Amino acid sequence: MRESVLVIGANGQIGSELVEELRRIYGNSNVIATDIKPATSEMLHNGPFEQVDVLDFAKVSNLIRKNKVRQVYLLAALLSATAEEKIKSAWRLNMEGLLGLLDLAKEEKFKLFWPSSIAVFGPTTPKQKTPQHTVTEPSTVYGISKLAGEMWCEYYFKKFGVDVRSIRYPGLIGWKTEPGGGTTDYAVHIFHEALKTKHYECFLSENTVLPMMYMHDALKATTGLMDADAEQVKIRTSYNVGAISFSPKELAAEIKKHIPGFSISYKPDIRQQYAESWPQSIDDSVARTDWNWKPEFDLAKMTEDMLHHIQQAVEH
Ligand code: SER
Repeated sequence: MRESVLVIGANGQIGSELVEELRRIYGNSNVIATDIKPATSEMLHNGPFEQVDVLDFAKVSNLIRKNKVRQVYLLAALLSATAEEKIKSAWRLNMEGLLGLLDLAKEEKFKLFWPSSIAVFGPTTPKQKTPQHTVTEPSTVYGISKLAGEMWCEYYFKKFGVDVRSIRYPGLIGWKTEPGGGTTDYAVHIFHEALKTKHYECFLSENTVLPMMYMHDALKATTGLMDADAEQVKIRTSYNVGAISFSPKELAAEIKKHIPGFSISYKPDIRQQYAESWPQSIDDSVARTDWNWKPEFDLAKMTEDMLHHIQQAVEH
């Protein structure tokens, strides 16, 4: 049977890469990319693209019915730093978007993917090897919306049998699309600046360790979770997934191995506070047991791959 897939928020850092991966798996014409803005990458036009506001549920529902969509990836959201500046609109987009899609999933019976984040954790959470089940007292609007969202996902699963699946992404690093509005964004910007100017001024302090993941692994985790049999998916709030943990200083040292003249300076801003409230490393043993999650990229392999691809993109 033809399986249509819908991605909401396709212009974003995860969305643009996920659309490409899903089109590789399901065929270009079966993956409908949508975003509130016109497509920002050529690639999104390799298959259907529609400009849609996720909060326009009539339009989203129409798209789902008309195309017999069986899987939806809801990626439209405001990230941590932007959400602090726009508290109400962040809550509206992050929460109403999810609730609307949960209701549609209940009616139309599609499988729903919704991303959560390490931001569900807060200053009272154990910072090292943060367990799956632990204190979640987030101190950012973004974290509050993700935590509430996780509880809504579990509620819709238990009460209405909605097959909703979720991952608590760490900071994501990829070379194809730049992130926007997050606290972990430095770990992408640093590569671009290293190649462009050989210098980066970091908005986090040098020893701020955060859990991170290369986009290759993030896509693997996402499709791995969505492909798992429903019985394997025992956590219906959101799964911890871990990969690499490092500080800006450690990342800079790794980049220096490839670009000896590279230097970094530090000018922490408000994002330092958000970073300090989050874990430094993640215990993802539950995801490993339940649906065989395993990352492939460590710091050295990721750094090499990032520099190689950004360099190539600049040359072409
Ligand atoms: N990468 C996100 C942020 O920095 C955390 O999930 O906001």
